[in-house]
Amino acid sequence: MPLELVRIENFRCIEQAELGLSKHRNYVFGQNGAGKTSLLEAIYLLGRGRSFRTRQNKRLIRHGQEGLTVYGESTVTAHRHRLGVKLSAAGLETRLDGSSAVGIAELARTLPVHVIEPTSHQLIEGGPSKRRRFLDWGVFHVEQGFLEAWRRYRRVLGQRNAALKQGQGTAAWDTAFVEAGAAVDGARSRYFDHLGPVVAEIGATLTGRRLVLSYRRGWSAGLSLAEALRASQQRDRGLGATQVGPHRADLGIVMDDHGVREEASRGQQKLVAAALILSQVRVFAGEHGDGGVLLVDDPAAELDSEAFSSLMRVLESLPAQLILTGLSTAALPPDAGFPVFHVERGQVRSVL
Ligand SMILES: Nc1ncnc2c1ncn2[C@@H]1O[C@H](COP(=O)(O)OP(=O)(O)O)[C@@H](O)[C@H]1O
Ligand SMILES: [Mg+2]
Repeated sequence: MPLELVRIENFRCIEQAELGLSKHRNYVFGQNGAGKTSLLEAIYLLGRGRSFRTRQNKRLIRHGQEGLTVYGESTVTAHRHRLGVKLSAAGLETRLDGSSAVGIAELARTLPVHVIEPTSHQLIEGGPSKRRRFLDWGVFHVEQGFLEAWRRYRRVLGQRNAALKQGQGTAAWDTAFVEAGAAVDGARSRYFDHLGPVVAEIGATLTGRRLVLSYRRGWSAGLSLAEALRASQQRDRGLGATQVGPHRADLGIVMDDHGVREEASRGQQKLVAAALILSQVRVFAGEHGDGGVLLVDDPAAELDSEAFSSLMRVLESLPAQLILTGLSTAALPPDAGFPVFHVERGQVRSVL
């Protein structure tokens, strides 16, 4: 599902840019502040409907402009699709093959984008919601019906919590809660069975340590969700919110028997985060025959040279379209031979 063409208008410092991309590897270089991250961010917006740098979409619009657009062409099973996003005061508008207002899920299916960037370690360091989002992103792409189950669960969780807040009984919601919750958990746990071993393998390559990922489903091991819900009834009432269930799920990450979140250095956390994301790309590729688009922002600035080489080795083994950035062409593998772009003050120019 490579992105073969991208056209950007009024995205941060990029007034206008058009890039014809290779299906395999692409390299973007330029000085600090040139617009490299902005370019990746624009591609990410096209596939995910949001940025990886800010929650406030309006910051993405070039100063003094009313709105931005990103247009791209991506090939899925030999069919070329046209995707577009337009962001203005009216919000985010999406288009896919001429139809407007398609959901982000449809964009994501047409242009699956992953990113490794300087704040990726928040996946490790941050709260469980970041890891659930990461997990669910992977589940969404391999489990048909997951999005539907997840939405059903969110809905009934909201209804149950509303009842708890008003001091009402929850019997009307409990059966639906358990049913939807089990569907969400089942899909996550099937996905996790694929992800876990890949994380161990890629984690060993990147960190030289034993990395063990575990799936915490959101309630006590050994209990069914129905049993856990019953056991939590009292606390739920007291707190006015449901305390157990898939909305409390998390991933445990242990390196050589120590919690990565608690003990690993920032540099190690960056590598572990990269290992998680790359593993997701590999699982995705195993399912779809293609890993989608992988954006990697300035890894040379983030990693020591040994870690950087290990990362490049893993990147080369992945069947995904790679768009990599860096300060100069010095970090580029010598046998490059793939498109190289130079960015300077928001202007993107192809140099190879
Ligand atoms: N909304 C915006 N409008 C115009 N310029 C912006 C906007 N947001 C950020 N910039 C500028 O874009 C420039 C490029 O940033 P960035 O893409 O992070 O560069 P790089 O990744 O190459 O270091 C920065 O100098 C920043 O000031
Ligand atoms: Mg940058």
